[in-house]
Amino acid sequence: MRHRWRTQAGVAAETAASVAEPTTEEATVSGDDQGEEDVGSGGDPEHLIIEDEFLDSAEELREHFDSRFAEPRQIRMDRFVWDYWHVPNQYTLIRTPAEDFFPRTLYESLEDALLSYGENKLGCRSISPVWLSYYVDGCSQELHADNPHGPWAFVLSLTDWERRRFSGGETMILQPHVLDYWRGFEARRGMELEDLVTQVEPDFNRLTVFDPRLPHGVRPVRGTQDPREARLVLHGWFTEPTPFFTGALEEHEAVASLNAALEPLFEEVATFSPSTGTTTVRLTISGSTGAVTDLEWLTDTLIEVPGGDEPGAVRDQVQRTIVRHLGGATFPTSDKGDTYLTMPFVFD
Ligand SMILES: [Fe+2]
Repeated sequence: MRHRWRTQAGVAAETAASVAEPTTEEATVSGDDQGEEDVGSGGDPEHLIIEDEFLDSAEELREHFDSRFAEPRQIRMDRFVWDYWHVPNQYTLIRTPAEDFFPRTLYESLEDALLSYGENKLGCRSISPVWLSYYVDGCSQELHADNPHGPWAFVLSLTDWERRRFSGGETMILQPHVLDYWRGFEARRGMELEDLVTQVEPDFNRLTVFDPRLPHGVRPVRGTQDPREARLVLHGWFTEPTPFFTGALEEHEAVASLNAALEPLFEEVATFSPSTGTTTVRLTISGSTGAVTDLEWLTDTLIEVPGGDEPGAVRDQVQRTIVRHLGGATFPTSDKGDTYLTMPFVFD
């Protein structure tokens, strides 16, 4: 699997893990203030990102799939690539590695788009091998969690959802409050499926990105046996959360300054009550002064491990500490302009 991470010794080894959902929080970092007043806990973590109309080549990928199934009576060697994956009471679907199924240039357009998205939006520098899967009558995924795979899972739909002839097929993700059920329990309020599970319809060319620590699955597909009418998706995981630089400064020019800011940051965060998840920020580094002029929160799946702290207190501590240390960092100047750093912080 290709990825774009070019290893630089010493780049924040502690920051290797996952990422979450984009928030709209921004903290402008300036002068002595360093945004301290502007940075609150920012509400709840976010575990789901939806990007519609994601891929320019989605139609071409779909057309290639359709062409391979156009003549059901025709025997071609490239028909024999599918794995009927059946784990009793857990997974039933038909899958193949996307890299083997699609022509190289078409597959690379998919992979490049996913890699760029991961780098710029999630702070992830790589992706797992991508699966192409179709779901016909009887296929489903029962609830499960993909904890070892990567900080974010993705599903890119090639399903002709508007004209589907089957029921089911939605991606379902357990809602976070279910995992903290008793904290918000209301004895007089009943709950049904929609109160417990978020269902994401796999619209054509929709990229669904979610925190795979949350139990998730695919609602059973009923009603078609034809692959051309199936729920059809590409799926995998974003991996390797790692600092990512774009703009004027090269990574090797900025890494010493970054590490100088991260060392005391990590020391301070290590004294906080435990939390788990990832938060990702983007820094704007001024070319003329080397100062950090803006800090934007891109994703946030940080969950406080239940304990004695006030809910939200640890998240607030973490965010303020990140802003204080990174906002106060000084990088080399550059006459080529500003630099942008996407910086994931992983807690586990
Ligand atoms: Fe999964």
